[in-house]
Amino acid sequence: MTSSGTPTNRRLGEAPDADLLDPAERMSVDELRALQLRRLQWTLRHAYENVSFYQKSFDAHGVHPDDCRELADLAKFPTTSKADLRDNYPFGMFAVPPDQVRRVHASSGTTGRPTVVGYTERDLDVWATVVARSIRAAGGRAGHRVHNAYGYGLFTGGLGAHYGIERLGATAIPVSGGMTPRQVQLIQDFRPDIIMVTPSYMLTIIDEFAKHGLDPATSSLRVGIFGAEPWTEEMRAEIEERMDMHAVDIYGLSEVMGPGVSQECVESKDGLHIWEDHFYPEVVDPIDGVPLRDGEEGELLFTSLTKEALPIIRYHTRDLTRLLPGTARPGMRRMQKITGRSDDMIILRGVNLFPTQIEEIVLRTAGLAPHFQLVLSTQGRMDALTVRVESRPGCPAERRTAAAAELVTGVKQSIGVSVRCEIVDPETLERSVGKLQRLKDLRSR
Ligand code: DLL
Repeated sequence: MTSSGTPTNRRLGEAPDADLLDPAERMSVDELRALQLRRLQWTLRHAYENVSFYQKSFDAHGVHPDDCRELADLAKFPTTSKADLRDNYPFGMFAVPPDQVRRVHASSGTTGRPTVVGYTERDLDVWATVVARSIRAAGGRAGHRVHNAYGYGLFTGGLGAHYGIERLGATAIPVSGGMTPRQVQLIQDFRPDIIMVTPSYMLTIIDEFAKHGLDPATSSLRVGIFGAEPWTEEMRAEIEERMDMHAVDIYGLSEVMGPGVSQECVESKDGLHIWEDHFYPEVVDPIDGVPLRDGEEGELLFTSLTKEALPIIRYHTRDLTRLLPGTARPGMRRMQKITGRSDDMIILRGVNLFPTQIEEIVLRTAGLAPHFQLVLSTQGRMDALTVRVESRPGCPAERRTAAAAELVTGVKQSIGVSVRCEIVDPETLERSVGKLQRLKDLRSR
């Protein structure tokens, strides 16, 4: 019996028995590589024959799908970027006739046209399977209740998670993002076992519990599956402690599928296993695009291996990570938790800095809440960065002053650049409902 009184086979926080795993999760590296090669050859041919963009781009590079005889040959093929999807807006990258497209999603992006992605019936089936596999790796089982606070709509988070929950045999509670008091109410009333939400919005929900005089650690939630934005080990510790639950990482992107491209296993929490039977990863030097060896940090590229509606070849994710050998799933490689996107990197007076590095320091500093904003401004001819961060409720004035000084010193010591720190009162910074935008760029240029 569970805390909610429902008999289930739940063993949250434990590895699934081998018989619950998908066959691909039990494959050896050699078996997986053979499967990947077959699927890659199919994908290259499918893309070349059905998408004029790929035909032109392969021809311009002097490569043909027949040139792929081993997995390493993929490096000879041209890469694809978000700009290519935008240039072929809305459906120019689709490789199947319109009547075979069962669903589209789109990612808004910050400028211009959104990128549109499509799925056949079989693509949706694969997607539900990899999300179900992800939730199982996070500790979820059939019979669990899953509160899904990822946004429903064109964003892939809500519906992507939804069909995975159902595929697992769990119960989907399709809450979507927003209306924070109602999120708390539903968690209290429906007693879900698992929550799927962005980590920044989880913090907002945690604070909402406190506002109602409730201790979030006493909620029914035992696992949180967090993704769609970068978050740190320090944030994991904060959420795990305040909610008394496991916090694990889920990764994905619309162009490659949506959530469920890779997932952290709850028993190891050591990076995200890439579901390599469907998504082939490479890491390349972000400057010159040269492929790097496993273990080296660079930009992650993905090639889809089974997608019908939108095959994607060597897609530039802009996400920075490294590939590591499999652990909890020995055949599948892991990607290290994402440090950040190359687009989010701030170059402050010549020093490269990621918001996640500031997050680590904020969370290590006593008296500071995990709510902060980075404000870039122009001071004379130089760029200046102010870390605007909330104090924890009840933090005395002297601690606030000391915390500001500690943060400035911490940033100087670990990143090597001077920043300012402004401590603001609790509950004064804007909260996120979906993906969080930490940077405010007020520079005059
Ligand atoms: O964010 C898909 C998703 C939904 C993933 C829900 C996980 C949970 P897009 O809107 O296309 O898709 O944004 C993709 O978000 O390239 C990363 O920069 C970032 N991202 C996604 N998951 C993570 C993560 C969805 N776990 C972009 N850690 C990606 C860090 C992440 N960044």
